[in-house]
Amino acid sequence: MPTFTIHNKTIQSKANQSLFDLAEELSVAVPSSCKKQGKCKECLIEITSGSELLSPLSDKEQHLLPQYRLACQAYIEKEGEVKAESLKRSRIKIEEKGTTVSDNIVLQPAVIRKGNKVYVDDICIAETTKTLFGLAVDIGTTTVVVRLIDIENGKLMATASFENPQHFAGSNVMSRIVYDTDHGKKELKRIFTAHLSNTILSICDTPTTIFEVVIGGNTTMRDLFFGLDVFTIGQTPYKSLTEFDVEKNQKTTTSIQSNAKKMHLPIHPKALIYGLPIIGGHVGADTAACILAIQLMEEEKTIAFMDIGTNTEIVIGNKYRAITASSPSGPAFEGGEITFGMPAFDGAIENIQIESDDTINIQTINQKPPVGICGSGLIAVLGELVRTKKINKVGRFEDGSDRWYADKNKQVFINEHDINLLSQAKAANVAALQILFKEYDRTFEEIDTFYLAGGFGEHIDIEACIRIGLLPNIPVEKYKKIGNATIEGLTMALLSKPTRLALERFVKNIRQVNLESDPAFFDHFVEGCLFQKIKNHNTKNHK
Ligand code: FES
Repeated sequence: MPTFTIHNKTIQSKANQSLFDLAEELSVAVPSSCKKQGKCKECLIEITSGSELLSPLSDKEQHLLPQYRLACQAYIEKEGEVKAESLKRSRIKIEEKGTTVSDNIVLQPAVIRKGNKVYVDDICIAETTKTLFGLAVDIGTTTVVVRLIDIENGKLMATASFENPQHFAGSNVMSRIVYDTDHGKKELKRIFTAHLSNTILSICDTPTTIFEVVIGGNTTMRDLFFGLDVFTIGQTPYKSLTEFDVEKNQKTTTSIQSNAKKMHLPIHPKALIYGLPIIGGHVGADTAACILAIQLMEEEKTIAFMDIGTNTEIVIGNKYRAITASSPSGPAFEGGEITFGMPAFDGAIENIQIESDDTINIQTINQKPPVGICGSGLIAVLGELVRTKKINKVGRFEDGSDRWYADKNKQVFINEHDINLLSQAKAANVAALQILFKEYDRTFEEIDTFYLAGGFGEHIDIEACIRIGLLPNIPVEKYKKIGNATIEGLTMALLSKPTRLALERFVKNIRQVNLESDPAFFDHFVEGCLFQKIKNHNTKNHK
C-alpha cells in the first residue's frame, strides 16, 4: 500500500483519499476555506519526494510549479512513498510593530500596587513584590501578536507572534463564523486559548503576576475569544451580540470584561480580561484600537484611516465627528483566487520594476525563487503594467496577449481574469471612499493625514496605488504608514484605564455608513474598476 509522510508522520493511503484527507488523519492542519474544492489554494504543499506517484495535475493546479500540489486535489495512484511539507506559516511576514505613541501615554492602568497589595478597581486581588505585568493581544484572522508589558512603567518586556490556529476552519471571517456555528462546542475558542496560553508561558517566567489582558481584533475574532456566539455577525444586520445588548439597554458599551479563571488562561486567576469596544458590525475592536493609536480622540484636523484587507475599514474624522464603513473587498489583494496569488511566504514576488528596455526586476520574499505573487506584489505588478501602458484602463493587455509573465523563466504570470478580480476588489474600496468622503462633506485634498494601517498598508507602494486608483490622488507626503496600529492602540488601552473609558464613549458617536444602501454605490463601483486615478467627485465648497 502506498504511504504518505508529512511533518515526519506517516500513514498508509487508501483509495479516494486526497493528500488533504491523509494529512487530516495524521492531525496535520492544512489550511482551507473552500472545503477542499480547489478554490482557495490555501492547501498548497511542497512535495519533497514521490511526486511521480501522484495523480495528474487537476484543472485547478495547472499553474503550479512542479514541486507544488494542492493537497485537496492530489491523490497517490502508484505504489511507493510520497513525502510532503506544508508551507510554513511561521515564515509569513508578521507586522509586530506599530509606529505611534504609547511612549507618550500617561500611565494610569486599571491594576495598581499599594505596598505589596495589587488592586483592580479598588479591590485587592493579590499580594506580590514582583513586577506587575499586563498583556496586549491583537487577534488577527491570520496572525496574532502579543506584547508583555510592565504595567507600572509601561516598558515593553517581550513580543511574540503566531499564526492564528483557527486557520484550519478557513482563512476568512465568514468561514470561521460558519465553522463555529456548525460545530458548536466552542472548538475555535478552546484551540485559540491553548495556543495563547503556550505563548504566555513562553514569554513570561512569572505568569501569575500577569494581572490584566487587553484584547483587540475584528468583531468575530474578539467575540470568538470571549466565547460569544458569532452567528449574528454573519447575518444581516451583521451585529455582535454585544451590540444587541447595548440596543436593549442591558449594557452601556460593547466592550467585554471577564477574568482569567473564566477564560482558562494561565495567569493570575483574578486578572482582568478586557476586550476593546467595537464600532459596529464588521468595524471591530481592531479599528477601535487604531483610533487610539492615531490619537483621533485628540485630533483637531480631519484625517482618514484605512486598513486594507479582505474587509477594508475606513474612518474619516477628528475629535469632534467621525464616520466609518467596512468595505467587503474580498480576498484578491491577499492573493485569493488570483492564479499565482499567494500569502507573503518565501518566494512570493513582493515588488517589481519594468525597465525602459522591458527588462523585469523582481524582489521576492527572502530572495527565494519566485513561486507566486503576494498582495504588495500584485499592486506593484498592476502599477508597473499601468505605468508602462501594457494594460489599458479597463485592464486589457494592449498587445492582445492574455497574460503577462513576471519572471524571466516564464513561470509566474498574471492574466486578464486576475486583473479583473483585482479591479473589482479595488472598486469596492473606491466606492467606500467616495461615499464616505461625500457623507463627511470633504474632498480628498482636505484630509490632513491619510493613515494606512496593517501589514498590507505597510508594504504597498503608494505611488503605484495612486496610479492604479486604489488610493486617492493626494500628495504622497500626506500618507502615513503606521504598521500594526492595533497592537499599539491595545498597549495604550492597557496602560490607561481613563483612555479606554474615553474610547468606549467616543466609539458610540462614530456613525457607521451603510455603503450598499447608497444609491451611488453602483456607479462608484463601476468607475472604481477602471485603472485610473480616483476622481474627486465631492468638490463643492464648504466651510
Ligand atoms: S482546500 Fe484545497 S484549494 Fe481550498
